[in-house]
Amino acid sequence: MVAQVEEVTQSTTPEANDGPGDARIKVHRGDAYDLMADLPPESIDLLITSPPYWGLRSYGLDHNEEILKEWLAEDSSRVQTDVPPYEWYRKHGGVLGLEPLPEWFIGHLVEILQRGAPALKPSGSMWINIGDTYFARWSSIRHDGRQGLGDNPRSRRRTPMGGYRQEKQMLLIPARFAIAMQDLRWILRNDLIWHKPNVPPRPEKDRLRLTHEHFFHFVKRPKEGRAKYYYDFEEVESGAQDVVYYDVDEAEEGAVDVVKVGARSGSDGHSATFPIDLIKPRILTSCPPGGTVLDPFCGTGRSLSVAASTGRNAIGFELTESFQQAAVKNAEAAIAQGQLTFDESNEAGE
Ligand SMILES: C[S@@+](CC[C@H](N)C(=O)[O-])C[C@H]1O[C@@H](n2cnc3c(N)ncnc32)[C@H](O)[C@@H]1O
Repeated sequence: MVAQVEEVTQSTTPEANDGPGDARIKVHRGDAYDLMADLPPESIDLLITSPPYWGLRSYGLDHNEEILKEWLAEDSSRVQTDVPPYEWYRKHGGVLGLEPLPEWFIGHLVEILQRGAPALKPSGSMWINIGDTYFARWSSIRHDGRQGLGDNPRSRRRTPMGGYRQEKQMLLIPARFAIAMQDLRWILRNDLIWHKPNVPPRPEKDRLRLTHEHFFHFVKRPKEGRAKYYYDFEEVESGAQDVVYYDVDEAEEGAVDVVKVGARSGSDGHSATFPIDLIKPRILTSCPPGGTVLDPFCGTGRSLSVAASTGRNAIGFELTESFQQAAVKNAEAAIAQGQLTFDESNEAGE
């Protein structure tokens, strides 16, 4: 039988990344920063991902909480919001998502994605799912697990206040990220709102519950003219018919930029698994059949499995071994069955 899922355990060189060419899904373990640079030019049709969000989870990784002090101590002319290059940050024990300041996080995320830009075809798309964070001087970091579910270990950490970083402030991290991408020439085509109707109740009584995340669609800016990219409009979901409309005569059906999909607590020990209904239309609309999907922060590989089961090839990057292994297992199952076979009973989020 031809191997269709290839697990690549150490993949920091182009040689190690090259598979036999018959694998429909390749799951590489390593840092997306390194692995992005190894991708062949113009080989990816769709980059779809959900990176770690800022200041929420450690994914079990150790982070150096003294890193801001160390960065400032190296050069007295630096100010806090000067962003260290990702390589410096990682070398000094920094973990993506646990940056001391949102500016650092956005700088690193954009830097990593930008390293993948040459690998994206001119007709390609990038879909990035990202949620917001409220600022708290003393914030609580979960080692894993979704808020309100289970007794996941947490740690407290002090985040520097200043400027817009004030208690209770919604930081607008998705918007800051999207603007940073626009500044690097990306064309933003949609700010899709993922409405999560099942977010657990919060103790705050002075604001509304945060029940949405953003899914940004970026395409490449051509040297001349208007952006032209692959998009199969027939595959857009039939729409947000189940969004509640108040006081309107007619609800517009289909192809709208708000989608309502329940969040789930995750599977395979991961807390942030993509719901199939959220990503399948993105993959069908933005990657041609037989094309290649890349998820550089693939977790347990839901996007890879959806890509494979819909006739696309897929490449995943994941730093944590247990998630990478789960991604391989899920991808094998999806290919073997020719359909999605996730055990949704271990996803306790609804
Ligand atoms: C929000 S989760 C993605 C979940 C995924 N969408 C799924 O369906 O399972 C982000 C993932 O990125 C991984 N990660 C964090 N930093 C990384 C890095 N520098 N390179 C590659 N993966 C990383 C984390 O271990 C985590 O699994």
